Amino acid sequence: MYGAVSAVSDLSLAVRRGEFLTILGPSGSGKTTALMLLAGFVAPSKGDILIAGKSVVSVPSYRRDQGIVFQSYALFPHLTVRRNLEFPLEMRGIKAAERAVYVNRMLERVHLKDFGSRMPSQLSGGQQQRVALSRALIADPPLLLLDEPLGALDRSLREQMQGEIKSLHREFGQTTVCVTHDQEEALTLSDRIVVMRAGQIEQTDTPEALYDRPATRFVAKFLGEANILETSAFKVEADAGPPLGTVAMLRPERICVAAQGAPRRADADKRQFVTGIVEDMIYAGPLRKYHVRAGGIGLIVREHVAAGQQIFRPGDEVRLDWLRSDVRFVTA
Ligand SMILES: Nc1ncnc2c1ncn2[C@@H]1O[C@H](COP(=O)(O)OP(=O)(O)O)[C@@H](O)[C@H]1O
Ligand SMILES: [Mg+2]
Repeated sequence: MYGAVSAVSDLSLAVRRGEFLTILGPSGSGKTTALMLLAGFVAPSKGDILIAGKSVVSVPSYRRDQGIVFQSYALFPHLTVRRNLEFPLEMRGIKAAERAVYVNRMLERVHLKDFGSRMPSQLSGGQQQRVALSRALIADPPLLLLDEPLGALDRSLREQMQGEIKSLHREFGQTTVCVTHDQEEALTLSDRIVVMRAGQIEQTDTPEALYDRPATRFVAKFLGEANILETSAFKVEADAGPPLGTVAMLRPERICVAAQGAPRRADADKRQFVTGIVEDMIYAGPLRKYHVRAGGIGLIVREHVAAGQQIFRPGDEVRLDWLRSDVRFVTA
């Protein structure tokens, strides 16, 4: 609670040793608060936090064995890269000669061997973030906490740094809790993802399970594109009837688009067919995206671009089909 504001409530979460867990949610959903609780910067109004079975709520954050990286790199601006990296080691009482060994090894590891004597302001954003990550990892803490660590970087650098975070996690094996609003980042990095909405956990699962079997409409839409088939004129066929209080959901890449009257595949008896009119076609490199109006609703269809494919244009009549087993039901 921040005064009368309840930023997160009923948050119950078990992080496994060595796991990479991501807290994913829109801005204001309580991600940072959840991480600050874990880090000990904010005390919970109620409840407990255990690390390796021991309560840590009364342990101040500086006494905890954890590394933290924030979106704004928060390097010490008046210290060189080398001195920044030495800091956590110094705090642990490690002698200068030994510190130098650790720092050299780390600088080498993150490809910043020649940057030790630079000041943070003399580094690019990506380099600063690599130093911040290195500083969080250098004393080998059992717990690593990351809050939007790549938020300030441009797209290609983000992807490169995602790879770097992943390989550092593989190498150091820290239990890691990462906060992000970027679903692609969460899917790429995590063993498990916690989806947060308005201060509460909406669903927790592996990236694949969350994407393929979202429990709620919110999760379905937050992790990629989702066709919600609730007001269609056609009746959605499914192998089992829809559970009470749910709506049918189909991922765009599960829908096939073909010309009216095109030959059907061998598994046609497992599929539902509907007709529609193409409203828009968007070419995006390896993918082609169609907006199709069918049964009174707009559907998004995504197909991988391949040789010999028929390309449809706005106004074309098409046949859409999908496996009945690809239909999901999410709570409304
Ligand atoms: N210090 C604070 N005082 C009052 N309200 C706060 C404070 N920090 C965050 N909040 C509120 O708590 C909610 C969650 O914020 P936050 O954890 O920062 O979300 P996120 O990191 O997901 O964007 C928001 O409604 C925010 O306005
Ligand atoms: Mg935040």
